[in-house]
Amino acid sequence: MEASNPTPVPPIPTIALDDDEITIIDQTLLPTEERRIIITTVEEMREAIQSLRIRGAPAIGIAAVFGLDIAARTSVALSRAELLRELKIASDYLAASRPTAVNLSWALRRVYDRVSAEQTDDVAVLVQAVRREALALLQEDLEICRRIGEHGIDLISGGSVLTHCNAGGLATSGYGTALAPMYVAHERGVPVHVYAGETRPLLQGARLTSWELARAGIDVTVIADNMAATVLSRGDVKAVIVGADRVAANGDVANKIGTLGVAILAKTFGVPFYVAIPLSTIDFDTSIGADIPIEERLDSELTSFNNRPITPVGMDVYNPAFDITPAAYVTAFITEHGVVYPPFAKGLAAFRDA
Ligand code: MRU
Repeated sequence: MEASNPTPVPPIPTIALDDDEITIIDQTLLPTEERRIIITTVEEMREAIQSLRIRGAPAIGIAAVFGLDIAARTSVALSRAELLRELKIASDYLAASRPTAVNLSWALRRVYDRVSAEQTDDVAVLVQAVRREALALLQEDLEICRRIGEHGIDLISGGSVLTHCNAGGLATSGYGTALAPMYVAHERGVPVHVYAGETRPLLQGARLTSWELARAGIDVTVIADNMAATVLSRGDVKAVIVGADRVAANGDVANKIGTLGVAILAKTFGVPFYVAIPLSTIDFDTSIGADIPIEERLDSELTSFNNRPITPVGMDVYNPAFDITPAAYVTAFITEHGVVYPPFAKGLAAFRDA
């Protein structure tokens, strides 16, 4: 697609480093309040990830490695062995904050492995290496998002796009994954219209996707989750694009609860269903979706709304944060290295050592 009216959109500074100060946008406050909070301890970073102040698979990976950076900078370790042991403890602690998104453990392992591969006994050099690797990850994610957007743009032209949850700038350090094609299209002056599913119970679609797309000047319409069937049946949606928290080696997709329903609807109404991911979201050690751990969150997310009870006291609740969409429902994966069509086991395996 050619540029007709380029409109550069600056990426959202979801996580930022200024000197030694690490700040994040507190996403629990959006869209009514845009507030940055300073994270000064590993415990605060874990809490921020667990409580969804920062969320989205790539963003929590990046946040966690900045947590590792805090651990390194505040350490009083006098030897290489001592520092690496502390980093391992901090890494395990941060990785345990949310179980489903594989980007979290992937990012922590990558930084730890690279730092421990440094051939030095100088603790200060190792501490600097943690910072260097965290910044590298942040920068790479920015570029990966753009490449996903460029690979996805031709798939979305000529109609509306429906997305679920938030896989945008707030979930990454760049343009997002699922929202990246929309941002790139918008940048190039190509008209885009997005339906954002509200995403019960925590409303990432209604609160966050709508916020960031509107901020960028992209046309967005919020729908309740139970309206997806109606919208997809009308024929004006060109594609569904979602992100993912983990993709198994066979192409099964773990993403925000409700994604499976949207995928089934897309197939029913003949709408392509795309999953936009960085390669770091593929877990080659997990062969099928059924083996992906699914986070279950607090009952209170379902029993109350805006701090008001909406169920009888003591109601039994089932609150999985993610579901598994079988690979058979996925039209293609949009990655930073291009679009991957079935058979996915073979197509994804080609990236195993990328
Ligand atoms: O619970 P959340 O808000 O962290 O869930 C986020 C999602 O499900 C996203 O779709 C996924 O992490 C991809 S973000 C690029």
